[in-house]
Amino acid sequence: MRAPFSLRGRKREFLTERLLPADAAALSHLHAHGFSRPWSDGEFASLLEQDTVFGFAAREVGRPRAAPGGFVLARQAAGEGEILTIMVAPALRRCGLGWMLMDAVMRELYAQRAQALFLEVDETNRAAIGLYRKLGFSQVGARPAYYEQHAAPRTTALVMRRDLG
Ligand SMILES: CC(C)(COP(=O)(O)OP(=O)(O)OC[C@H]1O[C@@H](n2cnc3c(N)ncnc32)[C@H](O)[C@@H]1OP(=O)(O)O)[C@@H](O)C(=O)NCCC(=O)NCCS
Repeated sequence: MRAPFSLRGRKREFLTERLLPADAAALSHLHAHGFSRPWSDGEFASLLEQDTVFGFAAREVGRPRAAPGGFVLARQAAGEGEILTIMVAPALRRCGLGWMLMDAVMRELYAQRAQALFLEVDETNRAAIGLYRKLGFSQVGARPAYYEQHAAPRTTALVMRRDLG
C-alpha cells in the first residue's frame, strides 16, 4: 500500500513493506525513540525469525536505503492477532504512518481469516489510544500497575480489541 504525505510543504510518499530479520538493527534504533526499555537487535531478530510473528515497515518511496519511517510488529496464533509493538519516527508522527502500518496488519490478519486483533497500551499514551480508537478498537480489559516508569507511579495497561470477522 502506498500513501502520499505532505510534510512541511514537501510531498513525500511512503509504502508498507514486510519486515525481515535483516531489519532488526534499524528497528532497534527506531524503537529507542519511543520506549523506556528499547528492544535489542537480537530481540527483534529472534522475534522476526518466528513463524507466527510478522510486521511491516513504512519506507519512503525513492529512498530504499533510508531508515524506515516507522514499523509495526504483530503475532498471529489460534485465529487471533496481537500487536507486539508499533513505532513511528518522531519527525514523521501525525502524518498517517501509524494508521497505515496498523491497516497493513489488519489486512494481513483478515486475509489469514483471523477473528480479532488485540493489543495492550499504557493508559497515559494518548497518541496510541487515539490511533487505536480511530481504527475501531475498544477496551476489553485492564492490567493495573502493569507499566513501570522510572521514578513515577506504575500505570495501567488497557487491553483493547478490534473485531476482524
Ligand atoms: C502511537 C503512534 C504509533 C501513532 O503514530 P502516528 O503515525 O503519529 O499516527 P497517525 O498519524 O496515523 O494518527 C492517526 C490517528 O491517531 C490519533 N493520534 C495520533 N497521534 C495523536 C496524538 N498525539 N494525540 C491524539 N491523537 C493522536 C488521531 O486520531 C490520528 O488521526 P488524525 O491525525 O486524523 O486526528 C506514534 O505516536 C508513536 O510512535 N508513539 C511512540 C511509540 C508508541 O507509543 N507506540 C504505541 C505503543 S502501544
